[in-house]
Amino acid sequence: MLNNQNLIEPDRVHRSVYTDQAIFDQEVEGIFEKVWVYCGHESQVKNSGDFHCVQIGRQPMIMVRGHDRTIRVLYNRCPHRGVQLCGSQSGNTGSAFVCSYHAWSFHLDGHIRGIPLQKGYEGTRLTAANPDCSMKAAARVASYRGFVFASLAPSGPSLEEFLGTARIAFDDMCDRSPVGEVEIVPVCHRVIQHSNWKFFMENQLDALHPSVTHQSTGVSASRIEQALREAGTTPPLYYHYLSTFASSFDQWDSVQTINFPRGHGILKGYMGLRPNDPDTQDYVASMHEAYGKEKAEEFLGRSIHHVLIYPYLSVQSPLQQLRCLRPIAPDKTLSEIWHFRLKGVSPAIYRRSLWYFNLVNSPATMINADDLENWAKAQWGLESKGGDWVSFHRNHGGDTVEGEVTYSNNGTSEVVMRNQFKAWAAYMGT
Ligand code: FES
Ligand SMILES: [Fe+2]
Repeated sequence: MLNNQNLIEPDRVHRSVYTDQAIFDQEVEGIFEKVWVYCGHESQVKNSGDFHCVQIGRQPMIMVRGHDRTIRVLYNRCPHRGVQLCGSQSGNTGSAFVCSYHAWSFHLDGHIRGIPLQKGYEGTRLTAANPDCSMKAAARVASYRGFVFASLAPSGPSLEEFLGTARIAFDDMCDRSPVGEVEIVPVCHRVIQHSNWKFFMENQLDALHPSVTHQSTGVSASRIEQALREAGTTPPLYYHYLSTFASSFDQWDSVQTINFPRGHGILKGYMGLRPNDPDTQDYVASMHEAYGKEKAEEFLGRSIHHVLIYPYLSVQSPLQQLRCLRPIAPDKTLSEIWHFRLKGVSPAIYRRSLWYFNLVNSPATMINADDLENWAKAQWGLESKGGDWVSFHRNHGGDTVEGEVTYSNNGTSEVVMRNQFKAWAAYMGT
């Protein structure tokens, strides 16, 4: 029987970290129920009583806006006999949560508001002053640029410390709006992947796979682009979203990844998302007006494809997409796929983010479907007795460390996975 000490080596990991139920249980308690977990965006709960239910580890939570405008994150559990207080994913609960079982009611901050039929509780230790009578709250709640996080651990790094340099994800998304803000589009795609959550996280910065995995879609899209050009038409931008996946191996190898402490990382930009059509020109002019030319160009020129916040979040800031993992079992992971509107921009600019949402990130996508199939097959392979180790040898020994940043000049280096497992080992105490 292996213990955690034997699972992680600098250039390979043991397959059980993807398959073992006891390790998964330890991850839920030791990682997901301790770190800062993304709950939602402030614009999801604009009015008092607005709520959105969210899973943190195995804990059912409610993000809710109070009468005092504060956003709180409460356990979705009635203190009486445990019934979940919100049965819907989101909505407005009015001025109180009311339990559907025996009608105990709670203020929006979770404090007990009323227990019907008071007669019967006299002389018991259940009084309104007893905290056991009120809904329990997440230990800590904080937000960054409108993105709300909660941690179930009373101590630990602050949200900004946890995010570290990876908080550029939210700066980059918001800075692309002339008013510096985004608002959520309040529907998300939900996908269950039949594989471990780590496959998603590794794949996000894996520049070794797209030219293979996404070849059929990428090549088809680039053929259509070519045909349109030959016919004298400018191909719509959304073909470009797909055709870049078929870039050559050498092009992918030139896309740099930057790896940070705690497993976070950035895949630098490679799509060249700056066309020169009238809509873009108007948008750029509004950015220049809002920030001045130099600052606006700094914001628009950032080289980011997406930012990974380990162990569960991928933020594609230039296209306002956010994917959040909610692990369910060693071989089952829910991903929520959200997108946002830049405030103060035209519908034409918003549509670009909507195209990407549907074409690349939706359950109907031709891109993510290929990834999902690979991860399910990887799960089956690692559950087999065909080998014990998973290889992350590519460019091992060639990483450059500068302060808190680890990078490789080879975009296809497996430094990404090595960095993630360094963080995993620290969380798991190995
Ligand atoms: S379980 Fe909620 S009021 Fe009884
Ligand atoms: Fe992929």
